[in-house]
Amino acid sequence: MNLPYAEPWRIKSIEIIHRSRAEDREAWIRAAHYNLFNIKSEEVYVDLLTDSGTGAMSAQQWAEIMLGDESYAGATSYYKLKESIEEILGFPYFLPAHQGRAAENVLFSALIGVGEEGRGKIVPGNSHFDTTKGHIEFRHAEALDLTIAEAFDTENPHPFKGNVDLVRLADFLEKTPRESIPVFILTITCNSSGGQPVSMANIRGVSELCRKHGVPLFIDAARFAENAWFIRQRESGYESRGIREIVREMFSYADGATMSSKKDGIVNIGGFVAFRDRAMMEKATSFNIMFEGFNTYGGMAGRDLGALSVGLRESTDYEYLEARVGQVARLGAAMVERGIPVQKPFGGHAIFIDAGRFLPHVRREEYVAQTLAVEIYREGGVRGVEIGAILADRDPVTRKDRFPALELVRLAVPRRVYTDLHMEYVAATVGNVWDRRADIKRGYRITREAPILRHFTVELEPA
Ligand code: F0G
Repeated sequence: MNLPYAEPWRIKSIEIIHRSRAEDREAWIRAAHYNLFNIKSEEVYVDLLTDSGTGAMSAQQWAEIMLGDESYAGATSYYKLKESIEEILGFPYFLPAHQGRAAENVLFSALIGVGEEGRGKIVPGNSHFDTTKGHIEFRHAEALDLTIAEAFDTENPHPFKGNVDLVRLADFLEKTPRESIPVFILTITCNSSGGQPVSMANIRGVSELCRKHGVPLFIDAARFAENAWFIRQRESGYESRGIREIVREMFSYADGATMSSKKDGIVNIGGFVAFRDRAMMEKATSFNIMFEGFNTYGGMAGRDLGALSVGLRESTDYEYLEARVGQVARLGAAMVERGIPVQKPFGGHAIFIDAGRFLPHVRREEYVAQTLAVEIYREGGVRGVEIGAILADRDPVTRKDRFPALELVRLAVPRRVYTDLHMEYVAATVGNVWDRRADIKRGYRITREAPILRHFTVELEPA
């Protein structure tokens, strides 16, 4: 008989978590103005708000924390990270930053400009992550989403729903003056479309078009290792290639990358911008020094640079990825078994519930995905996050609500943190909400919101 699958690690240290009573959760969510970002973590049982900075570090990473060199300039930990980035991603230059959005701020200051310099510029990509879009719009530039149409149909089994529509990209590049396009951002995996991968053929295609038109191609590398895993699983010609080899090829087509190290770096905080071109790195350096710190620490503690140097190696390990993406897939399968509509194929870091199909009676003006996320919390103390109209925010010009193609609730799975029994608990929780879905008819209205990135602090009341 074939032996069953089991994780390639054992647990050395644990964190106590508690279940809670339904009436307590009811009081907590009301006090939080129905915004799950306002809930205390101790009021949550299984926290799937994000996979960002929430992973469990290995003993090797903790050892690097002790070895951390906190020298202001030229720290040993910086050189360890430099070696990992060069070896794994293939970029000779990099600037550390305190997290992904800080890396975006530095890169965009150099490439798009600051203040009014961004006006009239367009940054094409597949679906930009919200901080990426925020940094583009903050500079009065436009974020253009060129993701393939298949991504917006959750039942379509397309294996690479993070792909860019190359026909639309070619057309856009033909019609738009070069000076208006400072950079192309390719997000792998594409978080906003459901943790969906981009194929190697598509990365190559985007790269060729960008090169032809002289537009630099930068990869948003937050979940690059999971993307490589999917290429190996799904793209012909890559089934027997090593993960590291696939990673090197992916980045070989790009001029650089921004990274939120809190995801596939498996550290609690950190990020960087990597470059192939020295002049481009030098242009970004002054912004890095101004916003982040001197270019050998850039807002990170030496110990975190060291832990990241190890995390990049661990996340590109075959057995690690098999366990990681496999756990997300098992959560997805447990949902599908109950008939719950989710984005298929399953993404790398999260299961995305199709809230529009889950709660067809709730009007989109009453924030369907938010309504479902609140119900899931009420049911079992499971915290997910809304990827819908609240996140999509208002149009910067008309100030009207933007309604995205899909209303999704994301259940993001932290790396190496929860067991499959936790995932079973999550599926059962969502399953109970599914069973009473016909009774959920009304959503929420906004009582307070910030002018940009409103989802973090928005306050709501039942409609
Ligand atoms: N790019 C992608 C694709 C992301 O998913 C994130 C963060 C960032 C950039 C920004 O990085 O948080 O380190 O500043 N995503 C988190 C999430 C917050 O929950 O998906 P950061």
